[in-house]
Amino acid sequence: MPAKTILIATHKGGTGKTVTAMALSTAIALSKKKCLLVDLDPQGHSTLGLGLELHEADITIREVFSEPPQPIARVIRTTHVPGLDIAPSNIRLARVAQALYMRPRREDLLKRALDAIRPQYDFIIIDCPPSLGILVEIGIAAADLIIIPCQMEARAADGLVDLLEVITLIRGEQFNAWQILLTRVDSRRTITNEAVLASLSPWKNKILKSCIPQSEPLNQAQIQRTDIYTFEPKSKGALAYQALKQEIINNGKQS
Ligand SMILES: Nc1ncnc2c1ncn2[C@@H]1O[C@H](COP(=O)(O)OP(=O)(O)OP(=O)(O)O)[C@@H](O)[C@H]1O
Ligand SMILES: [Mg+2]
Repeated sequence: MPAKTILIATHKGGTGKTVTAMALSTAIALSKKKCLLVDLDPQGHSTLGLGLELHEADITIREVFSEPPQPIARVIRTTHVPGLDIAPSNIRLARVAQALYMRPRREDLLKRALDAIRPQYDFIIIDCPPSLGILVEIGIAAADLIIIPCQMEARAADGLVDLLEVITLIRGEQFNAWQILLTRVDSRRTITNEAVLASLSPWKNKILKSCIPQSEPLNQAQIQRTDIYTFEPKSKGALAYQALKQEIINNGKQS
């Protein structure tokens, strides 16, 4: 079966997109499924987070969108996690993204690029920048499933409607393959948690059963530029992302 492509997206900053993309793709690879992590964020946080050192001349995901484009296979590198590859990114992607607005069939650019390598992977996970711009649009067009990380704090649901509007614009009214992931959940903050859940009540059927607790090792692994399963595999955060991986695989079997 060709890879299932999962986009991790929300235009809100700092909600756990990169932590989710890294931990989920590592958990998938460690369960002996071949996974590609596509860093679609010019901040390059997934690339840095997996310890990759990029040099000026290195080819990155940017080259897949330049003219003439490079095949994505040329961009992909292995990581220290067996079974996990990455299509890295850095700030130079921001420049090329602006030029994408002028390109014909621009929305399909990433989808078409990924089609060439889809048979080689079980899952492709895409980490998005915090925006509703062109990079996120081409990510949405390429996705089989969109996970929207929602941080458990005041105003968590703000902007969700805008993101859903963009998804509908690109994929049509019938597209329903999106889910909300609650992140940085602190069970002691009962009043905040109740308020967030109330604000998400119109979409309560869209909330994934697995949720991600506030877990300091997830933060520390980012600082150490490694994945959570190398850093602290028994931590609450690591276990939560393992449960998320299982839920996604099980949901995939049912559909
Ligand atoms: N469950 C968690 N527990 C503790 N710290 C977390 C957790 N999830 C994310 N963090 C920390 O919160 C910060 C933001 O997380 P992350 O970088 O994943 O967000 P993001 O949505 O990718 O941000 P951006 O919008 O800038 O791309 C990081 O410092 C990260 O280490
Ligand atoms: Mg990020």
